[in-house]
Amino acid sequence: MYPLSDGLFAAKNQWYIAAWSDEVSREPMERWILEEPIALYRKENGEAVALEGRCPHRGFPLGKSRVAGDNIQCGYHGITFQPDGNCAGIPTQLAIPQACKVKSYPLVEQWKWLWIWMGDPTLADTRLIPTEEELGVSANEHLMAIGGYTLVSGRYMLLHDNLFDLTHIGYLHMPNIGAGGGEQNTVPAIETGENWISSLYTQRDVNIPQYFSEMLKYTGKVDRIQGLKLFLPCLHVGGTQIFLPRNEDGTQGKPLGSLRVLHGITPATHHCAHYFFASGQSWSDDPAVSRQIFDNNRRTTGAEDVMATEYIEQMIQKNGGRLSEVLVKADVVCMTGRRMFEKIIRAEMRPETVARESLVL
Ligand code: FES
Ligand SMILES: [Fe+2]
Repeated sequence: MYPLSDGLFAAKNQWYIAAWSDEVSREPMERWILEEPIALYRKENGEAVALEGRCPHRGFPLGKSRVAGDNIQCGYHGITFQPDGNCAGIPTQLAIPQACKVKSYPLVEQWKWLWIWMGDPTLADTRLIPTEEELGVSANEHLMAIGGYTLVSGRYMLLHDNLFDLTHIGYLHMPNIGAGGGEQNTVPAIETGENWISSLYTQRDVNIPQYFSEMLKYTGKVDRIQGLKLFLPCLHVGGTQIFLPRNEDGTQGKPLGSLRVLHGITPATHHCAHYFFASGQSWSDDPAVSRQIFDNNRRTTGAEDVMATEYIEQMIQKNGGRLSEVLVKADVVCMTGRRMFEKIIRAEMRPETVARESLVL
């Protein structure tokens, strides 16, 4: 499915962010992930549970049902399911048909998120989830504000495309974080590893964007380095660093401040994605400053990214699900990233062939 090759949607044997920890309570909630309805709730001891959210009796949503002790009871005719998905009872009969059960998904609470594994549960290795060190939130140099969530009416790969190509910052986000100038000369430096890809954009001697000027109380020229590292398949970690321009001896100027951003992207359905967002800053100990930046980001930058994604989704759909593209140099990150997504999806489809291909490489 565009922008991936025909027939490819999303890898299942991966950890995805299902929800912010504080979204899930004793009140069940429904969240669609990779085209499947999931019911999320907490047991009496606080442990979170993820079950298939469609009752096998008549298809009523379990995420819109009720929690009873550690179980969930379907809101239609009262059939009850345990956290492992097995049926605990049918109100109108004693015998429980074998088919009367739902899938239970591995669910792990790490940092402030619940991570779900949609594929083969025997492969769910929790060591694959990015650590707090990798998120850059363990050392408190960036005071984080959290809790952003948006359901975006666009396919998840468009949100990845958006983060792969930060040259959009000078244009889509023009009046806010993008007024620095110099974007036309920006070619990303790119690095890749087994399950990650990072891009770095360096701009020298540009005007400080209005937004940072107000925040850092500085006007004049700066060096700006920004980038993101994607931990496949769903989390971009990165941000912006602002420095005084290089010194006469060529060394980097004094750092003025930096922002850290976390973007979690989980496919909901073919044309819809969950977007989780957090941000932090380095120049103030005041949580209110982090919160102010976070709110501003959501209202302006985040909303602009969502707008672009939804416009393009509409364009694709009106164009019969396809879009032809003219590629430019800055697309190197986007193209590399898309290939990495295709690789993990194909690896599930025909593992023996992919293993052979990597041997040949
Ligand atoms: S639909 Fe769930 S009990 Fe009937
Ligand atoms: Fe953006």
